[in-house]
Amino acid sequence: MLPQDFIYALKQANPIEGVMSSYVQLRRAGSLMKCLCPFHSEKTPSCVVYTDTQDQHFYCFGCHAGGDVITFIMQIEGLSYMDAVQMLAERAGMTVPRDAQGNREAERRTRLLELNRTAARFYYDQLRGQDKRGLVYLRDRALSPQIINKYGLGYAGDSGFSLCNAMIAKGFTEDELITANLCGRSQKSGRLYDRFRNRVIFPIFDLRGSVIAFGGRTVEKDGEPKYLNSSDTPVFKKGHNLFSMQFAKKSQSKRLILAEGYMDVIAIHQAGFENVVASLGTALTPDQCRLMRQYAEEVVISYDSDAAGQNATVKAINLLRAVGLRPRILHMHDAKDPDEFIKKFGPPAFRVLLEDADDAMTFELERCKTGTDTDTEDGKIAALQKAVAVLADIENDMQRDIYLSRVAHDYGVEKEILSAQVDAELRKRRGGAKKQAWRNVQNAAVTRDPVNPDAVSHRREAMAEETILCYLFRNPDMLEKVQETVPPEHFVTAFNKRVYTYLSEQLSKGYTYSLSLFGEDFTPQEIAYITRISVDLEQVEINDKTVSDCAEILNAYQADGKKAEDLDNTEFSAKFDALRRKRT
Ligand code: CTP
Ligand code: MN
Repeated sequence: MLPQDFIYALKQANPIEGVMSSYVQLRRAGSLMKCLCPFHSEKTPSCVVYTDTQDQHFYCFGCHAGGDVITFIMQIEGLSYMDAVQMLAERAGMTVPRDAQGNREAERRTRLLELNRTAARFYYDQLRGQDKRGLVYLRDRALSPQIINKYGLGYAGDSGFSLCNAMIAKGFTEDELITANLCGRSQKSGRLYDRFRNRVIFPIFDLRGSVIAFGGRTVEKDGEPKYLNSSDTPVFKKGHNLFSMQFAKKSQSKRLILAEGYMDVIAIHQAGFENVVASLGTALTPDQCRLMRQYAEEVVISYDSDAAGQNATVKAINLLRAVGLRPRILHMHDAKDPDEFIKKFGPPAFRVLLEDADDAMTFELERCKTGTDTDTEDGKIAALQKAVAVLADIENDMQRDIYLSRVAHDYGVEKEILSAQVDAELRKRRGGAKKQAWRNVQNAAVTRDPVNPDAVSHRREAMAEETILCYLFRNPDMLEKVQETVPPEHFVTAFNKRVYTYLSEQLSKGYTYSLSLFGEDFTPQEIAYITRISVDLEQVEINDKTVSDCAEILNAYQADGKKAEDLDNTEFSAKFDALRRKRT
C-alpha cells in the first residue's frame, strides 16, 4: 500500500477542480461545482463536485459515479489504481514511491505484453507456413501483401496445441498463457489448448504499438463463432481501445471514420483512408468516444446498412455527441458494408460517400420516415410526429428553427403549425422531467445497488449501517467506542460489512480517513457507493445517540433474526425520519 502521506500530498497537488476541468466544463453553483457528467449522456448537469470539503470528491446523481480525484482518473482514463496515481503524480511532477508489490504488478504486465508480441509473431509466421488456408482466405478478401504485413495479420492452424507448445518452449508459463486468454485448460485432460484455431488472426495494438489482444476470424465456411476475440486481461480492456487507432491517430485530419469490424477497417485503410477505427466486438462505449475526441472533431459513422447497423448508428450518434464530437453518417447503397462497397465500386466512390455523409440531424429526420409510407396522409402524420420529437431534441434555438423550416417545407405543412407542435412537446417534457426527478429520488435506494444488492431488501438496516459508517468517516477517533457498540457481525448487508471491517482495520493502524483509504482494494463503482453515503448524509447531524439508535436497529435484527420484509415499515421509517434531523 502506498504511504498515506504520499496520497495526501498527491491530492493536494491535484485539486479535483483543476483535474476535472481538463475533461469537463465546471460551473460554480454556490459552494459546489457542477458539470455535465462525463460518465453518462445528459443535457442538464447532475454531476456535483464538492471542492470545499477536506476530502474533495465528486458524485453524479444521474448515474451514481463518484469518488475522489484518483477514482475520477481511473474512470475517465480507464486506468488501474496504480496507473491513475502514476498519471496524477506525473501531472504534478511527483515521483511515486515504489514498493515490491507495485514492481511485481508491472513485471507481470511486461511479461504478458511480451507473450502477446511473441504470439503475434508466431501467428504471423504460421500465415506463411505450410498450411496456406489463411493466406488464401485473406487474398480472396482482396487484401494486398502490403496491408497484410502492415496490420501484422496472422493465422492459427488446425493443431489446437501448436501455440501453447511454442510459447511454453520459449519459457512462458501455463498461467501466463491462460491469463493472456490465448489458451484454455481442458476440463477432462487438464491440458492446455489453443483458443484460436483455423482462424486468421488480427492483433490489436495499443497506441504505443504493444500487442494487447487478438481477434480471430474463422476461415471455415460457417465456422462458429465467426469472430472470436480476447476477453479482458490485465493488459486489455475491450471498451477502452479501438482497433487501428495506432494508425488513425497519425493521420492529420480532424476526422475519423468509425466502422463495425476488422475487415471493414482494413478495407477502408487499404483504399487510402488511414483515419479509420472500429470498436472491438462490442457496442461503442463512452471511453472509446473520449479516446476519439483526443484526436478528432468529427466522426463519420460507417456501419453496416442493415437494421442492426442503423440501430447501432443511432446509439453511436448520441455517445459521440455526449463527448463533443460531431457525428456524420455515411449513407451506403447497394452494399451491406464498406468492405463490400469498396470491392464493388472502388475507393473513389467511397470518397464520394465520405464527402456526402449526412449530418446527424438529417439522418435522424430521414429515419422518421422508415417503416411508413409518406405518400399516404396517415404515413405522413406518423412520420411528422416522430420528426417533432427529433426537433424538440435540438437545444440551440437557431438550429431548431432552421431544421423546422426544412421539415415544414419537406412535408408541405405550415411552419407555424409545426412550431406549435414542437413547443407543446417541449412543455410536456419539462413537466415530465420534474416528475422523473422525483421518481428518481424515491427509487434511488432501491434501484442503485449492484454494489450492495442486500440493501434493496434490507433498506433500513442498510441505512442504519451507512449512518454508522458516516459517523466514523467524520469521527475516526471514535472507532473503539463504535466497535464496542456494533461488532462487524451485526452488519447485515455484505458490502457495508466489508466497508466497516476494512475501515476499522485501516483506522486502527492509525490511518486517517479519506476516500483514498479504499483506493487500492475497492473498485471505482464501490468507491462511488461509499461517496454516496457521505453525500446523502451531508446535511444530517449524526451524534452518539444516533449511533446507538442505529446500533439498536442492527442488534434487534440479529436478535430476532427477522427478515426486513416481515417487519412493519412505518415504525422504522418514522424512527429514521426522527434520526435524520437537519444538521444545524
Ligand atoms: N463480431 C464479433 N463476434 C461475432 C461477430 C462479429 O466480435 N460473432 C464483431 C467483429 O469485430 C466484426 C464485427 O463485429 O468485425 C462486425 O461483424 P460482421 O458485420 O458480422 O463482420 P464483417 O466484418 O462483415 O465480417 P466478414 O466480412 O468477415 O463476414
Ligand atoms: Mn463484411
